[in-house]
Amino acid sequence: MKLWKKGLGSFWLIVLVILLVACNNGDTAKDEPKDTSSEDPATETEEPAEEEEVTIVYARGVDTTGANEKLVAAFEEAHPNINVEFREMPADTGAQHDQYVTTFSAQSSEIDVFDADVIWPAEFAQADYALELDRFIEKDNIDMSAYFPGTVASGKFNGKQWAMPKFTDAGVLYYRSDIVEEPPTTWDELIKQAKELQGKEGTEFGYLMQAAQYEGLVCNAIEFIASYGGQIIDEENNVVANSPETIKAIKKMQEIVGSDFVPDNILNFMETETETAFIEGKSVFARNWPYMQASAADESRSKVAGNVEITTLPKGDAGSASTLGGWMTMINRYSENQQAAWEFVKFMTGPEGQKITAIEGGSAPTLKALYDDEEIKEASPLFANPEFVKVLESAVPRPITPIYPVISDILQIELSKALAGEQTAEEAAKNMQTKIEKAVSE
Ligand code: GLC
Repeated sequence: MKLWKKGLGSFWLIVLVILLVACNNGDTAKDEPKDTSSEDPATETEEPAEEEEVTIVYARGVDTTGANEKLVAAFEEAHPNINVEFREMPADTGAQHDQYVTTFSAQSSEIDVFDADVIWPAEFAQADYALELDRFIEKDNIDMSAYFPGTVASGKFNGKQWAMPKFTDAGVLYYRSDIVEEPPTTWDELIKQAKELQGKEGTEFGYLMQAAQYEGLVCNAIEFIASYGGQIIDEENNVVANSPETIKAIKKMQEIVGSDFVPDNILNFMETETETAFIEGKSVFARNWPYMQASAADESRSKVAGNVEITTLPKGDAGSASTLGGWMTMINRYSENQQAAWEFVKFMTGPEGQKITAIEGGSAPTLKALYDDEEIKEASPLFANPEFVKVLESAVPRPITPIYPVISDILQIELSKALAGEQTAEEAAKNMQTKIEKAVSE
């Protein structure tokens, strides 16, 4: 089965530059002296003796793939003295974020390890929620250059590593291979095909995306904006949201969201709604992250197993663009089991753990070498495809800043109003510009 079609434009050059800037920012701190002192009482814990049993609490968002259970089981088998108690968090990254902020700002030690969206580490480091990981990385000789540089940069702040890369994400286009002859390469072609093919093979919709007012909307919008050549914040940290490119992109989103080929309630759609509808066979096309390849291929849940292929997102005037997503793992600064917590982080983000996440969960490894691993390649034609690795490496990052939640909120509000028809694309771009400029200057 060929799950991936070529469709990459010269746009990668532009996004590569963005990525290089992001990586540079992360790397400049490499040579700064590391603070490995243990004067801080919150970080001073004894390593548990070999035989001493400990239980750590691990929190992450809802897992629809079953990978998490296997990951925990494999870890516990390798570490018989460490038990992992699982705490399920909401699927929506924003709702999850807010729960962590409540817990950690109260200096609670109840959660030891947690998965963190790539947009959180800078904020959590600055707010003192996270344990700095350099001392563990050094002691265990973890080679950070084995990871994709962009994923390492997401976990770095003020020259220190606060989060380890667990898996990486980039938006992709899923389509029904039993309906679509040649997948669209531009947004306009997608619109045309979605209209024409809607209704075939029992489908109700032509296209599904994440258009609810939450972080996923920002990710979808960044893809449209970058594909038309726009940006929110440029390489020199200038706010450049109010541009003809961004306006054109928002108009394209309005056209899609307002069309008859998306569900009436598309403005409530997040990843879960997209996944459920798509694997039930209700749509011809869908934008989602790689994890959906696991559920789409799972015959016990999916009505479309064997009839799904994946390709790059459609191009705008400037090419195709994917938002850089992904998840890291972090340790609560107030954890009372820091060494055991680190063992779990090391396992999940090391080759063995990432293999489970890739094969069972469909999510893309952050360790470069795993793309040469035969079992991973066999489990996912997507991961076996060098074109997909290029998409991952050139995906557009969101700004790495402690005030990211503020920027995201502005984008969510302004984009939602535009999609709901409460303001024009021009007004949305103008408001994004002035509000983000104000937030950044404060
Ligand atoms: C995925 C991405 C994450 C992003 C989220 C938005 O989980 O990995 O980075 O913020 O989707 O819904």
